[in-house]
Amino acid sequence: METGYTVEQLRAAATDAVRAPSLHNVQPWRFRLRDGGIEVLLDPTRRLPATDPSGWGARVAGGAALFNLRLALAVAGAPATVRLRPYPSEPDVLARLVPDLPRRPSPAEQGLYAAIPRRFSNRAPFWPDPVPADSRWRLGEAARAEHCWLELLIGVSAVNAFAEIARSAHRVLERDPAYRAEREAWVRAGTEPDGVPVTASAEPQDLLPSRGFGGTQRAPGRDFEPEPLVAVLGSAGNTAVDQVVAGQALQRVLLTATDAGLSVSMLSQPIEVPSAREQLRLSLGRFGTPQMVMRIGYGQPGWPTPRRSVDEVLDLPVSLA
Ligand SMILES: Cc1cc2nc3c(=O)[nH]c(=O)nc-3n(C[C@H](O)[C@H](O)[C@H](O)COP(=O)(O)O)c2cc1C
Repeated sequence: METGYTVEQLRAAATDAVRAPSLHNVQPWRFRLRDGGIEVLLDPTRRLPATDPSGWGARVAGGAALFNLRLALAVAGAPATVRLRPYPSEPDVLARLVPDLPRRPSPAEQGLYAAIPRRFSNRAPFWPDPVPADSRWRLGEAARAEHCWLELLIGVSAVNAFAEIARSAHRVLERDPAYRAEREAWVRAGTEPDGVPVTASAEPQDLLPSRGFGGTQRAPGRDFEPEPLVAVLGSAGNTAVDQVVAGQALQRVLLTATDAGLSVSMLSQPIEVPSAREQLRLSLGRFGTPQMVMRIGYGQPGWPTPRRSVDEVLDLPVSLA
């Protein structure tokens, strides 16, 4: 009788999991099979000590990879029951997935799954066309389905107030030479399988601070779309588990956006600076903790960024490797 997942199922699902986003595209995850369960782990060699000293970003990225993994298994007819941080003595194990009762995937799962290879961070200016009400509603539902909330900033004054917070967080981070060095170390001019390609960068914005990944420069004055749709994703609390939950919600929102023909770029400077995060939380008047900020709209075509091969992120028993 089949009691657990197989190496083939792990390999196939992990191939989709690695398409998840991560800070500076460090890809901080590993995947293994233990007693028939698939486990998602953080890779201690892929931390960002200056940019992400608490490990928040790694756990959010791990949660996003976990969402892809869940989706891939569900679409393959082998959905999982998930336990987050299953071993208190092993905090780097973010999740353990064991087989649930087999069932057919829903059309919604199939739609989101199909969006995995098409999703990418689009940092270029968007068209001025507004995001329609039904798409906004779908994005909020995606966050709620994963136990998080999504606050859309409506109106010029809300966006301007947010931009002020984001720019000041950006300035705080940029004053730290270790932070700058780390960012520069992950900019890639060639076709390396990790890091942020220069070609995925965008010219700076006047309103919202973009992280410099070495792209083209321009003088202030001809900005991006005049009224960007800015969305803040938040979770109920801010424990390590909450951050993994937020990562799953982030990926569900991103795939829902892709499925709706929308582009997204992420901006997390105001999450990374504690005082800015608190200011943002207060300005939203929400309980819980902001975990990510997104700019959403209709983008120009672009392309996904590279990933390491799945064989580099699997921990297999020697006999199976
Ligand atoms: C926790 C987290 C924080 C991020 N913060 C930013 C950010 O501040 N600015 C940015 O341009 N991209 C940000 N990103 C996007 C990553 O740079 C991007 O996911 C990575 O380079 C891989 O590219 P892709 O999203 O196109 O697959 C963030 C992603 C994650 C998961």
